[in-house]
Amino acid sequence: MTTGGGARRTIKLGLMYHQAGHHIASWLHPQSWPDCGIDLEKTIQIARMAEEGLFDLIFEADTLSGERYTPQTLPMTAQAMRIDPMTLLTALSAVTEQIGLVCTASTTYDQCYHVARRFASLDLVSGGRSGWNVVTSWNTTEARNFSTGVHLEKDVRYRRAREFVEVVRGLWDSWDEGSKLIDRQACKFYDPDGLHVLNHEGEFFKVRGPLTTYRSPQGQPVVFQAGASDDGKQLAGETAEVIFTAQQSIVEARAFYADVKRRAVEAGRDPAHLLVMPGFGVMVAKSRWEAEDAYQALQDRIVPEVGVMLLSRYLVWDLSSYDIDGPIPELPDNRNIPSRVTLLVDTARREGLSIRQVYQRIAGGRGHYQVVGSHRDVADTMQEWFETGAADGFNVLPPVFPVSLREIVDLLIPELQRRGLFRRAYEGKTLREKLGLPRPISRYAAR
Ligand SMILES: Cc1cc2nc3c(=O)[nH]c(=O)nc-3n(C[C@H](O)[C@H](O)[C@H](O)COP(=O)(O)O)c2cc1C
Repeated sequence: MTTGGGARRTIKLGLMYHQAGHHIASWLHPQSWPDCGIDLEKTIQIARMAEEGLFDLIFEADTLSGERYTPQTLPMTAQAMRIDPMTLLTALSAVTEQIGLVCTASTTYDQCYHVARRFASLDLVSGGRSGWNVVTSWNTTEARNFSTGVHLEKDVRYRRAREFVEVVRGLWDSWDEGSKLIDRQACKFYDPDGLHVLNHEGEFFKVRGPLTTYRSPQGQPVVFQAGASDDGKQLAGETAEVIFTAQQSIVEARAFYADVKRRAVEAGRDPAHLLVMPGFGVMVAKSRWEAEDAYQALQDRIVPEVGVMLLSRYLVWDLSSYDIDGPIPELPDNRNIPSRVTLLVDTARREGLSIRQVYQRIAGGRGHYQVVGSHRDVADTMQEWFETGAADGFNVLPPVFPVSLREIVDLLIPELQRRGLFRRAYEGKTLREKLGLPRPISRYAAR
C-alpha cells in the first residue's frame, strides 16, 4: 500500500512504558525488573532497547493520584511508585538519540503556560523529539490533590481541554523561526518583530504570553490524545495529530478509525495528519505454544484480590463481595467511567465472562487488545489491522519489562521489516519527521 506521494505507508510504533510491565503480575515474574518504574538506569536500558528496535516513540501515561487502589491490595502491586514522566523523559533525552519522548499532561489539573513551557523545553533539549498526550483526567480522586476536591463534569473538562490546547499552541507560536539573532555587532539578541504576545482571554483561561522558551525544533511538539467518547473523538478530530486508543476487536477498531478520520475531514484537516494508534499488549515468542505458555504462567501469578481490585477500579464499583466465578453484576449508570470501560462490560456480557475471566483479560494490558503468539502470528494481526483501515500504527504494551520487549525487538521487529511493513533504519531526526506529520505553520506567519 502506498501513500499519495508514492512512498510506501509503514507502521508507526510507540512503546508504552509502565513500571515492571503492563501485566498486573509483571513484578512477580522472575525475569522482570520489579522496580523498573523508579530506577533510572533500568528505564534507560528500556529506552535504548526501544531505540534499537527503531520505535518511533516511548510514551508514559500519568495519573495524579494513587488512590484508586485499596490499602489492602496496593502493597501487592507495583503501582504505588513512579517518577514524574516529564522528569524521566528529560533524563532519557540525554542518553538517547532518536526515539520520540511522549507523556501525559492533564488539561484539568495543569496550567496552559506550564504545559507549553515544559513540552517546548523537552523539545529543545531533545532536538525535536517531544510529544504531549492531552488528557482530561477521568480519575476523580485526582481532584483531592489539587485543593478544590471537586472533579469537573466531563463536558466541562472537554470544553476546558479544547481551550487549553488552543492556548498552548498559541504560546508555542510566541517566537518566529529565525527570531533568535544573537547579533553582537548590532547588539540584538532577538528580532523584536519575531516575538508575539498571545493575549488570550476565554471561558477558562486568561494567559498573556509570550512563552519564555524559544520556538520548538519541530515548530511545535506533537499533540497526542487518548479519549474515546464522542467528546474525546471530536477533540482529537479537531486538534490531535496522533490518537491512542484501546479497541477490543478489529471491527470496533475500524469503526473508530473511520469515525476519527471523518471528524478530522469535517474539521478541514487532512485525515493523514491524524494517526490512529490502538494499544496492543504483545506477548511474542518463537512459537505460538511458547508464547501461550509464558502468558498463562503470568496469568497464574495474579493474586485474586488484586485481580478483583483491578476490575473494581475499572468499573468504579467494588466487586469484592461478589462471586469471583460469577458474572459482573448490574451496575448503576451514573458512574464516571470512560467509554472504553463501557465497551469492556458490553463485551463481557456478550461473551458470558465471569469476574475472574474479565480481570484476566485486562490484567495483561490494562484494558488494551492482547496478542499472544509467534512473531508471525503477531505480525499477521498487525498487518491485517494496518492494511484494512483499523490502525496507522500501534502503541505496544509489553506485559513484562525487560523480557517481553527484548522478544519484541528480536523477533517481531525483524518479521515486520521482512514484510516491508516497518523501517530498517531511522529516517528523519524529529518525532514529526518519523511520524510523517507536517511542521505546523505559525499563526503569525501570514501576517
Ligand atoms: C493509550 C491510552 C493512554 C491514556 N493515558 C492516560 C493518562 O495518562 N492519563 C489519564 O488521565 N487518562 C489516560 N487515558 C484515558 C483517556 O485519555 C481519557 O481520559 C479517558 O478514556 C476518558 O475519556 P473518554 O471517555 O473520552 O474516553 C489513556 C487512554 C489510552 C487509550
